[in-house]
Amino acid sequence: MIRTIAWQDNQVVMIDQRKLPWEEIYVVCSDYRQVIEAIKTMVIRGAPAIGLAAALGAALGAQGIPTKDPEEFRRRFQEICREIGTARPTAVNLAWALEGLLAKAEQAAGRGVGPIKNLLIREARRMLAEDVAVNRALGRAGQEVIRDGDTILTHCNAGALATGGYGTALGVIRAARSAGKKIRVFADETRPFLQGTRLTAWELTRDRIPVTLITDSMAGYFMKKGLIDKVIVGADRIAANGDTANKIGTYSVAVLAKTHGIPFYVAAPCSTIDPRLKTGEAIPIEERDETEVTHWAGQCIAPAGISVLNPAFDVTPASYITGIITERGVLKPPFTRSIREALKGKMKEGRGKKKTDHKGG
Ligand code: MRU
Repeated sequence: MIRTIAWQDNQVVMIDQRKLPWEEIYVVCSDYRQVIEAIKTMVIRGAPAIGLAAALGAALGAQGIPTKDPEEFRRRFQEICREIGTARPTAVNLAWALEGLLAKAEQAAGRGVGPIKNLLIREARRMLAEDVAVNRALGRAGQEVIRDGDTILTHCNAGALATGGYGTALGVIRAARSAGKKIRVFADETRPFLQGTRLTAWELTRDRIPVTLITDSMAGYFMKKGLIDKVIVGADRIAANGDTANKIGTYSVAVLAKTHGIPFYVAAPCSTIDPRLKTGEAIPIEERDETEVTHWAGQCIAPAGISVLNPAFDVTPASYITGIITERGVLKPPFTRSIREALKGKMKEGRGKKKTDHKGG
């Protein structure tokens, strides 16, 4: 099993995703500021994995607060969480995880600083274990929409590496394989950071799931040829109406899918839904360093001084989305209602699983 992130000997250990697939090395963080740096520099990436890094990083930060005074501890812990919360702006899982830890600390106020520190480690590790369980549930629900023999296009990496383990979009693919369905995957390379080439292709090859790597600009060509049956992608933030932020290029894939009548699914845990945002318009889009676009393997490949834009995410409007696969079942349009119900916990896992295919967007 791929280990994305772990708590080990009072340190946070994560596989260095910048080095994959060439080297499998681990970064060890003994200070929460190193965790922030790891998130910023993409040692760890993917919405749920970022959330877990934030939780483990906050627990780590708490251990280093040198006070026995509960009020002082509370103030310092809030500051640490605020600092970690600024590491990357788009994935809501970051704020979600930190809010969870802050709430735990508040509930335990009065127990003394030492017990709260221990509690925060336990809570962060529980979140990690829960994420894997949620992905497996999401995979079970989502594999129902996949038919034996399907070819599935995915964009970016929404696999074990982007989560605590198993993955969201790749979790659905893994679950379909476990259910005995013969499927194959087309992986978009995902410019400019190449999460598809480096990470998705690596994960699927390791699991012996047939995968074909294509450049982002080839998706329409293969759809037109009738070679893609479904699209499944992950998400960084889903607004209350279903609008979904995911890796830059996802929107283009969704438009192509709709044009060709190909079902387009988003797979994400409920923690990726941000009910505070009515639509995707309000989702903050991270702008990353221009060298990700101008450079390849440390070498500048663009003319010096060229103007560059590098938004890391885009928003796919809900009207392009066939279904949102969550651990509480496959949510269907109108998403405002299905999301509201799912967040209330009204949907039972696997509900609506009789239908196996949903055309259009
Ligand atoms: O910039 P990244 O690599 O953090 O972007 C990741 C994505 O866009 C993923 O598709 C998304 O987080 C879903 S991960 C389960």
